[in-house]
Amino acid sequence: MPAIAPSILAADFSKLGEVVKLAEAGGADRVHVDVMDGHFVPNLSMGSIVCKGLRPVTAMPLEVHLMVEEPARFLDGFIKAGADSFIFHLEVEPDPTEMIQHIRSQGKKVGLAFNPDFNIAKVEPYIADIDLVLCMTVFPGFGGQAYIPESTARIRQVRKWIRELNPKCELEVDGGIDAKTIGVASAAGADVFVAGTAIFGSKDGPTAATKHLLDLATKAAA
Ligand code: DX5
Ligand code: ZN
Repeated sequence: MPAIAPSILAADFSKLGEVVKLAEAGGADRVHVDVMDGHFVPNLSMGSIVCKGLRPVTAMPLEVHLMVEEPARFLDGFIKAGADSFIFHLEVEPDPTEMIQHIRSQGKKVGLAFNPDFNIAKVEPYIADIDLVLCMTVFPGFGGQAYIPESTARIRQVRKWIRELNPKCELEVDGGIDAKTIGVASAAGADVFVAGTAIFGSKDGPTAATKHLLDLATKAAA
């Protein structure tokens, strides 16, 4: 069953709780919180205070995507603020074993991410030990970019490894996911879809946009 993860990076922060609830009403599965440090990516975004604010507002799990150079420094603050899962990048933690164990020991889920130019073979050894693989479909840093078409073959390869090594592991895609691209990513084997602009920038509103994306992903599912 596909899952939609609205990225609040594209939300109107003056009504954050309200628009998150609208996405939830459309069948969103979790909230995707994009954390940027201005070093790993050329932009700044938000910290744990945003999770703290959202925690009482929604029943959805809060998924924290750490686009930062030193992810370990930030885990405890996000855990206190009510985060449910963490995704960090293999580019900054080439041996992620300790971080995986630490996050798991806190009772939280863990995912490994990589950029579109990363050698995906490097994720394979860890698939058996994690809950999610995040295949970036744009270079991270900004919302509203176009899906990189070469991502599709990468998604297919990671799905193959997941099938062989840990079928329960989720395969998430992030960047440029909208009504035009979600079917392609779903057919290639992705099952969690981050969408910012396509949900919070939609003229139909977050509820209808989420429903529509979920419907398209379900119909195209591999
Ligand atoms: C990219 C972030 C994404 C981004 C997605 O830097 O990790 O989560 O907000 O935004 P859209 O859906 O607008 O491409
Ligand atoms: Zn993200």
